Amino acid sequence: MKPRLRAATPADLPAILALEESAFATDRFNHRQFRYLLRQARATFLVARAEHGLLGYGVVLYRVNSRRARLYTIAVAETARGQGLASALITALATEARRRGCRQLGLEVRADNVAAQRLYEKLGFRVANPLADYYEDGGAGLRMTLPLDH
Ligand SMILES: CC(C)(COP(=O)(O)OP(=O)(O)OC[C@H]1O[C@@H](n2cnc3c(N)ncnc32)[C@H](O)[C@@H]1OP(=O)(O)O)[C@@H](O)C(=O)NCCC(=O)NCCS
Repeated sequence: MKPRLRAATPADLPAILALEESAFATDRFNHRQFRYLLRQARATFLVARAEHGLLGYGVVLYRVNSRRARLYTIAVAETARGQGLASALITALATEARRRGCRQLGLEVRADNVAAQRLYEKLGFRVANPLADYYEDGGAGLRMTLPLDH
């Protein structure tokens, strides 16, 4: 069955945390941070669910008086990768950011995370600038941006 995308709810939190744990080695979000994001009005928090459980999630943040939205986190369960799920989540998040009047979607990605960079490039993101010593472990990052055409 095709996974369904919908807004995240508090009941999704345990599965989101488990996926976060398996998807990221550093700079992980904890329960309190995810709960805050769920309650945050200036965010879009989507999950991809199949009958047997959570397959992915993605969060976009908005700022007051800013037309720039930020893709804050995205992850897909290992068993569900390579099937276009992250692309579907980002496309849905970008559509919502555009609906809210945003002109650009930005993100930060680890310089050594080639899979994620390929994903973003395929969706039209381009590298804006490098970010030295950006992650908890001192790893470098890249800022990438996608224009949201209206
Ligand atoms: C990065 C991630 C979200 C991709 O999820 P996904 O659902 O497998 O991505 P998609 O199936 O939508 O992939 C779309 C495109 O991204 C690129 N891509 C995805 N995974 C890739 C990989 N392992 N190697 C190279 N390119 C990859 C490909 O261009 C792919 O298109 P193709 O299938 O036509 O080749 C997933 O691997 C993940 O959760 N990784 C751990 C968490 C993470 O790194 N998040 C991003 C933090 S910035």
